[in-house]
Amino acid sequence: MSEFLEAMAFRHACKKFDAEKQIPAEQFESILEVARLSPSSFGMEPWRLIVVRNAGLRKALKPSCWNQTQITDASELVIFTTDNNVVRSGTRYVKDMFSRRGLPSEAVETYMGVYKNYLAPIESDEVLLENWTAKQCYIAAANMMTYAATLKIDTCPIEGFDKENVEAILDLPEGHSVALICAFGYRVNPQSERKRLTAEQIIEYR
Ligand SMILES: Cc1cc2nc3c(=O)[nH]c(=O)nc-3n(C[C@H](O)[C@H](O)[C@H](O)COP(=O)(O)O)c2cc1C
Repeated sequence: MSEFLEAMAFRHACKKFDAEKQIPAEQFESILEVARLSPSSFGMEPWRLIVVRNAGLRKALKPSCWNQTQITDASELVIFTTDNNVVRSGTRYVKDMFSRRGLPSEAVETYMGVYKNYLAPIESDEVLLENWTAKQCYIAAANMMTYAATLKIDTCPIEGFDKENVEAILDLPEGHSVALICAFGYRVNPQSERKRLTAEQIIEYR
């Protein structure tokens, strides 16, 4: 089996992390680097990652995360937040993100126009905009989880939280929101049997 498929088989949504076992610093840094290198729509990189290491803050977050033990027991806890203001069309940030490609100014203007058209129906609604930036975070999180599995590090993506409460506890700046939480560490219990639909059930060829 390829190393990639081995990692896919190793990865599972870890329910109980060993609270005593720490991920070596350089390995966790490489997991964060995988997030940074992940693709995003139009290359806007809307994600802003918060690594929660403070035990008191973890404890404060737990009740708003369905009391899931991963919040306090995982070696590292990453909260994917997004900056939804900077990615609005026409901002300095958007212009800089296109300009950094080294394009001539007319090409930058063209990109800005295409971007504006694309984003218009999305940015007119705060929830749609939050969902759009959140989608980018899910790609980064998926890459991080699979990469972590190559290092025999366990993970759990966490959507089971009260968004408003978590945002209030983190005291996020205006226009920022929480997309997803991901816990990283080491399993206590063996992986349970994997349940999946069959290929026939989910894939159609036309
Ligand atoms: C976006 C997302 C959110 C999830 N949220 C939670 C969660 O809050 N708590 C949890 O224990 N598992 C959570 N899971 C894990 C899923 O339940 C799990 O991936 C699924 O049942 C398949 O099991 P496996 O990942 O172990 O193969 C989440 C998974 C995804 C992709």
